[in-house]
Amino acid sequence: MCGIVGYIGNKNTKEILLEGLKELEYRGYDSAGIAVLQGENFESFKAVGKLVNLEEKTKNFVTQNFAVGIGHTRWATHGKPTELNAHPHLGESSYVVHNGIIENYAELKKELMREGVTFLSQTDTEVIVHQFEKNLKTHATPFEAFSQTIKELKGAYAILLVTKSKSDSIFFAKHGSPMIIGKNSENEKYFASSDTPLIGHCSDVNYFEDGDFGYVNLSEIVIVDKEGSKKQPHFSKLSTNKLSAQKDGFRFFMEKEIYEQSVVIADTLMGRLSESAVLFDELDTSLFNGINEIKLCACGTSYHSALSASYLFERYAKIKTSVEVASEFRYRQPIMTKDTLFVVISQSGETADTLETLKMAKEAGLKTLVICNVDNSSMVRLADASILTRAGIEKGVASTKAFATQVTVFWMLTLFVAKLKNSLASGEIARQIALLREIPSSVKVTDSMHEKIKRLSKRYLHGHGFFFIGRDIFYPLALEGALKLKEISYLHAEGYPSGEMKHGPIALADPELFTIALLPQYLLYEKAKSNVEELSARDSTICVISAIEFDKADDFIQISACRDYMLEFFEMMVVVQLLSLEISIRLGNDVDMPRNLAKSVTVE
Ligand code: M6R
Repeated sequence: MCGIVGYIGNKNTKEILLEGLKELEYRGYDSAGIAVLQGENFESFKAVGKLVNLEEKTKNFVTQNFAVGIGHTRWATHGKPTELNAHPHLGESSYVVHNGIIENYAELKKELMREGVTFLSQTDTEVIVHQFEKNLKTHATPFEAFSQTIKELKGAYAILLVTKSKSDSIFFAKHGSPMIIGKNSENEKYFASSDTPLIGHCSDVNYFEDGDFGYVNLSEIVIVDKEGSKKQPHFSKLSTNKLSAQKDGFRFFMEKEIYEQSVVIADTLMGRLSESAVLFDELDTSLFNGINEIKLCACGTSYHSALSASYLFERYAKIKTSVEVASEFRYRQPIMTKDTLFVVISQSGETADTLETLKMAKEAGLKTLVICNVDNSSMVRLADASILTRAGIEKGVASTKAFATQVTVFWMLTLFVAKLKNSLASGEIARQIALLREIPSSVKVTDSMHEKIKRLSKRYLHGHGFFFIGRDIFYPLALEGALKLKEISYLHAEGYPSGEMKHGPIALADPELFTIALLPQYLLYEKAKSNVEELSARDSTICVISAIEFDKADDFIQISACRDYMLEFFEMMVVVQLLSLEISIRLGNDVDMPRNLAKSVTVE
């Protein structure tokens, strides 16, 4: 997601900022910008798309002597990825960059506009700089004005602000979004939203805590904590290994991405929920006019999220929904009718098979929608409408956070369609919106859960295969659990509907057959339990994942007692991801780059 850099010193500020932003590219972004203050002169540049566009725009801009500078890579949330919405945002004589969300921006903006301030962007960020300049008029010093501004902001943020009223300093604030300051023997100061831009430049770093704010210049680092007391920075030595810094201390990117799910799902939800409705600014409701059926088409993990969505669409939006594997669909001369909304799902937006089906649907004159993680990808450009999943760049080949955000988007989309079609009572929509808000906490990895899975993974390294079983929407989750395990452990695993085992696969049951059973408390519990008992009676080795204790299992992974089966779905998703991860690590495999697989499959 968004990235921040800042620099105070005598070196080439422009290059330092651009290099720093490059180090943050892995987080994902759709526009970027910098602002540099040299004495009384401000220069700012912004560009949509990749950093090369920003480099091109700044190629004639030279920075040599002392300067303060800030830079930003933006992943659009409030407002489209345009130059006007890109950071830094300008007031009269100050610039700001910001990660996070200012929850009370609408109120602040309304008041500022009433007082005559003109806003140039649709972002929540722009209020920060105008509010600061308003406070500058009534406070004795720029720092007092900044402190007052921070008091007035609600939400999550990492903020850097530069102003002509104190042209040797950078003001900063951190609450809920990461922010680090680094220093070196040359007395330069660097800011960034993660370690990587600082490696090679700084020897020591201080990690700000939530509520910290202050200002920094060549000779001072002034930090005030959330109680309003001044505090000393705590500098520690900075690692020199960029790759491990990008992994934030996790062993693999996949592990980091599993842990990130809580944050990225919060990003996926951000600005898209009111108390009673799901809001997709990017969708024109006319897309659904005359639509009687939804056809979902995708590959791999994205296919599994589509399959999950089909249960939700039919159950809540009461719309006929079918799901297709793209590589099959494209060659089977399917019948496509114009009352069908054709939806493709893809993390990358480039998967050849899925892209081809999108082209087929367009040629057949169907309305099309893509659920995608990459803006400006081929599918996003081609489809009539798109919803971005906002998972940030996913580095592990085995998809985790992309799947989590896809299912989140689908659940939201179901409620969006249900409201349009009036197929669900408003009270039920409101109840489910409240549940959606709980997903980020449901997917948080706890130490005890991770430790337990790490420990029990050693029992699942051999045997003649795995069955992941589940009913209803837990069947696609079983498919996804099996795919994860296959991809990174190279062990044979299948996902199966629990009720189908007795129609054939149960013949395989013996102690060397491992069954991972998904037993949600709130969906067909008794039915799914009987299916597990059938396997247990045939001596299959069973690991049950459930909120309810199950004494016929060899292993039991307890999830928390959630309020709804969808929250159980998300918690179990994390469990099956971690189980695959830990089995693969024990087998000594390259978790992030499993053999024979590519992240983006652009061939047939
Ligand atoms: O980029 P896409 O979502 O279109 O990719 C589809 C599949 O290739 C992808 O999900 C694949 O199955 C992953 N390796 C899953 O972990």
